[in-house]
Amino acid sequence: MTSNLWLRQIGVVAGAVLLLTGAAHAAKKPPSIVATCAACHGVNGVSVASTFPDLAGQWSPYLTAQIRAFKDHTRADPLAKSIMWGMAATIPDNEISEVSRYFASQKGPAPGTEPAALVAAGRKIFMGGITSTNTPACMACHGPTGRGLPPLFPRLAGQHAAYVATQLGYFKQGLRTNGSSSIMQTIAAKLTTKEIKEVAAFTRTL
Ligand code: HEC
Ligand code: HEC
Repeated sequence: MTSNLWLRQIGVVAGAVLLLTGAAHAAKKPPSIVATCAACHGVNGVSVASTFPDLAGQWSPYLTAQIRAFKDHTRADPLAKSIMWGMAATIPDNEISEVSRYFASQKGPAPGTEPAALVAAGRKIFMGGITSTNTPACMACHGPTGRGLPPLFPRLAGQHAAYVATQLGYFKQGLRTNGSSSIMQTIAAKLTTKEIKEVAAFTRTL
């Protein structure tokens, strides 16, 4: 084989690589609606403040179900009513799955740091439950690494502790009732405010 042919072959391979990276790049371009969401959830779905949940790496069917629940007002906790009802109304029905898939495909949040004592207590609850109150281990459904399991069980790994604590409070008070929330209502009702703080600190570190 002449060196000339080699060079031509390398050229073909390089061209193919360029085409492939070009295609991968195009696939990652956010749907235009993401510009609206980015103000709170970040353009890559890693949110800018702990009140706003990270959407990155969350399961697409779960995201779709929540957006629909905001749109039809079945997720009616205080933050849903005051913020997400309005936001969801701006998403056309035929763009819900696309925006869900986009955030689901982004790299999930990196583990955060929380006070060691809270994390240690939270780990016990997450991994082993609380025997005295018959509280199941969170990992039974959300997985030992907090990655969840589609379509029913959302990812909790790396999620903001403040957001997780707020949602557990909503479940406990019966304020979040959409979808499969009844499972979480029963569980959260058994948790004290202190235990909620602990388990929420732990999930942030996963
Ligand atoms: C002004 C801030 C803000 C903007 C902009 C915003 N959100 Fe939200 N989002 C929130 C808050 C706050 C919550 C928590 C709602 C609750 O507690 O019910 C939330 C929750 C969500 C959830 C549920 C996550 C979970 O883990 O259950 C999804 C999905 C979501 N938003 C999608 C979007 C999409 C898509 C857009 C863009 C069209 C958007 N949001 C724009 C503030 C915002
Ligand atoms: C038997 C299964 C099961 C167990 C055990 C369980 N969960 Fe859940 N969890 C669910 C389901 C299902 C949902 C989704 C509810 C929905 O559809 O809105 C959920 C949702 C959540 C959410 C809301 C996530 C979000 O993005 O808004 C949090 C927070 C949560 N669980 C925390 C916990 C904690 C902490 C424990 C342990 C004390 C726990 N869960 C144990 C099934 C479970």
